[in-house]
Amino acid sequence: MDSIIVTGNGPLKGQIPIAGAKNACLTLMPATLLSEEPLTLTNAPRLSDIKTMTTLLQSLGAEVSQLQDGQVLVMSSHALDNHVADYDIVRKMRASILVLGPMLARDGHAVVSLPGGCAIGARPVDLHLKALEAMGAELELKDGYVHARAPGGLRGGVVDFPIVSVGATENALMAATLAKGTTVLKNAAREPEIVDLAQCLRRMGAQIEGEGTHTITIQGVDRLGGATHPVVTDRIELGTYMLAPAICGGEVELLGGRIDLVGAFCEKLDAAGVSVEETAKGLKVSRQNGRVRAVDVVTEPFPGFPTDLQAQMMALMCTAEGTSVLEERIFENRFMHAPELIRMGANIEVHGGVATVTGVDRLKGAPVMATDLRASVSLILAGLAAEGETIVNRVYHLDRGYEHVVRKLEGVGAKIERVSDR
Ligand code: EPZ
Repeated sequence: MDSIIVTGNGPLKGQIPIAGAKNACLTLMPATLLSEEPLTLTNAPRLSDIKTMTTLLQSLGAEVSQLQDGQVLVMSSHALDNHVADYDIVRKMRASILVLGPMLARDGHAVVSLPGGCAIGARPVDLHLKALEAMGAELELKDGYVHARAPGGLRGGVVDFPIVSVGATENALMAATLAKGTTVLKNAAREPEIVDLAQCLRRMGAQIEGEGTHTITIQGVDRLGGATHPVVTDRIELGTYMLAPAICGGEVELLGGRIDLVGAFCEKLDAAGVSVEETAKGLKVSRQNGRVRAVDVVTEPFPGFPTDLQAQMMALMCTAEGTSVLEERIFENRFMHAPELIRMGANIEVHGGVATVTGVDRLKGAPVMATDLRASVSLILAGLAAEGETIVNRVYHLDRGYEHVVRKLEGVGAKIERVSDR
């Protein structure tokens, strides 16, 4: 297994290009199942999760080819010859559940393995299933698989989500595009990835209104066509790299960064004393001398502070002046980075979903263990600012969501290298 060695090396300077959004691409790719025409995605990120989704779609009979070193995905599913999403693939990536709605809407039947939990929580899919049932789907759980049928096709319905769910909103939105009649999604997720999906589906001929608000209305159509769609910028990669100059000092321009994607996050950076400036090419983040100020964070659905940036923000707060309280309200077990940061000298107390962080002058490099995607990159950020050498083990987690992380950070002056089988 590979490790990444980071050595604290002072302020950073330069530019980091931000890739297309993993979490947008993972819902845009299954959208190809809704149409017999080709769907082309540009600005696609080069990540292992994208490879996993590619394998899943190909196992169903879709064709997926990568151009321009993986930045362009050309997909077509004119003839699906398999409607079973196998546990072996689904267990590797929860987003696999997103083939359920499109496959059911297109062909009236689908069998998808339940994804199972992951490091950050049980991650149930009950809201996905309830949404499809509200559109007339007949579902049966058997041997760890969801057997879904809609013999006469799905029909429009009202889906009132008891809690905001990104994935359930995406599954329902895709399924509703081919349902007979009108579907209304209430308490829908408002993430930019949902807006991106709606824009792509509209390019394919879907009739959708209200994406980005709590209520999305979809008028079903008989069929969808093909399209070419650019994947939206990855706001989580953006926020992650904005924290690099914040924690190390210096000035870094994030190419392709958009302030509307990271509003709540920027408010916290501003309160902490980190300056963010919009430029012609993206966002410039700088922090001159002196430590950042401690700020409190509560994770919420968009447009609130993203749970996917909580671990990274905790790394910054470990070096802040004062005490900050971080409350994780989305997932039940998303503080696994805390014990690893404590190994680096951080002062963190975790009680349930609340972590209290008292900043220290300087973290100390140490061998640490990556446990999940966002925890792993929070350890890299901490290592950038720590005294001495930090060895982050099990970095395969990183490859799921961050392309070329060593190259991008080296490019702004970080002392970082990837080594194998440590
Ligand atoms: C998406 O996961 C993202 N993944 C996650 O990013 C992100 O953390 C999450 O949204 C929240 O923003 C992708 O887009 C591929 P949810 P998702 O459904 O859709 C509960 C990353 O690091 N829930 O919005 O699975 C659930 O347990 C990943 O890139 C149910 O109870 O998240 C959680 O507590 C991690 N029943 C809450 O809702 C359901 O049927 C929000 O989950 C579905 C969800």
